Amino acid sequence: MTRLVTLGHTGCGEKISMKDLNSLGLRYSGGLLQVLDQQKLPNQEEWITCRHPGDMIECIRHLKVRGAPLIGVAAALSLAQLAESGASEAQFLRAAAELRDSRPTAVNLMAAIDRMTELGLRGYHQEVIVQMAELIFDEDVELCSQMAKNGMAVISDGDSVLTHCNTGGLATVGVGTALGVIRAAFESGKRIHVYVDETRPLLQGGRLTTWELDQLGIPYTLICDNMAASLMAAGKIQKAIVGSDRIAANGDFANKVGTYGVAVLCHHHQIPFYVAAPYTTVDAHCPTGREIPIEERSAAEVRGVMGSFGAVQWAPGECEVFNPSFDVTPAQLVTGWILDCGLYGQREIKSGILRRLGK
Ligand code: MRU
Repeated sequence: MTRLVTLGHTGCGEKISMKDLNSLGLRYSGGLLQVLDQQKLPNQEEWITCRHPGDMIECIRHLKVRGAPLIGVAAALSLAQLAESGASEAQFLRAAAELRDSRPTAVNLMAAIDRMTELGLRGYHQEVIVQMAELIFDEDVELCSQMAKNGMAVISDGDSVLTHCNTGGLATVGVGTALGVIRAAFESGKRIHVYVDETRPLLQGGRLTTWELDQLGIPYTLICDNMAASLMAAGKIQKAIVGSDRIAANGDFANKVGTYGVAVLCHHHQIPFYVAAPYTTVDAHCPTGREIPIEERSAAEVRGVMGSFGAVQWAPGECEVFNPSFDVTPAQLVTGWILDCGLYGQREIKSGILRRLGK
């Protein structure tokens, strides 16, 4: 379980610099904050320099920085960079409010910003803000390791595991959520195979999860989202593990659109379906999944496809499009919730969530 350190300031007005921080898609060193452009992967590995929270907002809105835990950590680092540069408290709070609004569904973003600004309201001290950003980063690494440890036993030797979207080192600053669990099972010596949903419309599975699995040497097969049903019917998938952008107090959860379909298919085929997420993804203020705000994105993402490979539109000009970025999976379809504090089943999840949040 993550320990919270006590944050404090020396009161001597000394300028404190944030320590060097490094992950697969986010790095900070000597005032330089950079993100790996996830829209350009896997064809180009290009780092973008963020000089101001406005740059980070742009990256988050356009999914250059994405994945629920990562956007929270990236936003925190961006605010710490602003405080380090000598911004006033008013400038800091304005930037925090704008960052908080940059994407609506992943609650990790709001949770991280609230932690950063609660400190600001108690007294605006650059040193404390920097410490909090470092803590948020280090904590995410730790939370990922805990989830991996808690979840790896659900995968058996010889399993083929289906996953949706990207939930690995690119979506967090640690080993990931669902992909971290899969990675831990593989690294423990289990012979496993991963089926990767390509994840229309923005192809996080096809572009990013495949890239990560290649780097890790984990065997996988990429499929179109609509192929999972027939693979399950043929007995080729033994488990499904996904991540989450927000878990409600009753265990319902939002994740990348298409996740609900995977859960329904698993239920029909009696395949265990797991969700892996850190406590920073849990929103006790959302009683059920119905209260989770679902982001709707541009029609262009569905009328065609775009990425470092270029942009193509195949649908007629201005055709009507519905493009929710997430869907909600009801708790009753979930076999187990892999959290940083343990593995919970249907009967324990509500009390487990409340206990973890100290309610
Ligand atoms: O729109 P994205 O790419 O930010 O959505 C990401 C997801 O839905 C992930 O599955 C989620 O954040 C899982 S936790 C890493």
